[in-house]
Amino acid sequence: MKTGNNSNGVSGESLGIDIGGSGIKAAPVDLTTGLLTSEPCYVAFSGKTSPEETKRIIEEIIAKFAWHETVGIGYPGVVKEGIALSAANISPRWLHTNLEKFFQPAVRNKIRVINDADAAGLAEMKYGSGKERNHPQGGTVLLLTLGTGIGSALFCHGRLFPNTEFGHVFLGNGLEGEVFAAASVRVRQQLSWEEWGGRLDYYLKEMEKLTSPDLIIIGGGIVENFDKFQSFLKTSAPVRPALMGNHAGIIGAALYAAP
Ligand code: BGC
Repeated sequence: MKTGNNSNGVSGESLGIDIGGSGIKAAPVDLTTGLLTSEPCYVAFSGKTSPEETKRIIEEIIAKFAWHETVGIGYPGVVKEGIALSAANISPRWLHTNLEKFFQPAVRNKIRVINDADAAGLAEMKYGSGKERNHPQGGTVLLLTLGTGIGSALFCHGRLFPNTEFGHVFLGNGLEGEVFAAASVRVRQQLSWEEWGGRLDYYLKEMEKLTSPDLIIIGGGIVENFDKFQSFLKTSAPVRPALMGNHAGIIGAALYAAP
């Protein structure tokens, strides 16, 4: 493990694990730079994967990286004081599980669990596209992760307002945001970039009415194709892709568990 202080207050390494709608991704993260220090590993995960199976996967990940330091986990639902309070795209068996206690036996050190989109937001605010607004006059930053569902992270003057769950906001068309505009919907409904980009624009404008952000950051694997839909977005606030793309969740979970 690297030691020593740095100007942004965190140092050393943590292992970040991002439990997403379709896969679990993990890698050790250098907390000074926000960079992964090994190739990430990827294990399939679905709405059917049980909590017990997930714990076994996490044990394997810990063994693969021979990890003895702190571990941060991003969970795709509301997390309060380590407890899962929602499970929209995953098994209902997760509900009310004390995730930190449940996963602790798989981990050899301190463990912390946070909502996956909040984790991505922490990473982008510290090391990525939100960095310039990560200060006491930084205004409002809204990060939305587009994947199986839509996750959200809202920051005001650099501080996270956790568990915002804006993917579940009902739009004027009667649909939940994530049912209308998640990245998975584009694939499932075979929408063109223009069709899906128009939907995303509609959703972002609704979110803009509700939160008046100074900056919107788009995260998730879809960011690789940002240039294909960027031109369809006409919000007042600038929209930027997450600098850490699909790794933001890993990096933010690691940061959340910083020693
Ligand atoms: C969940 C959120 C999560 C998002 C992305 C939504 O369905 O309710 O908590 O952040 O999916 O995984």
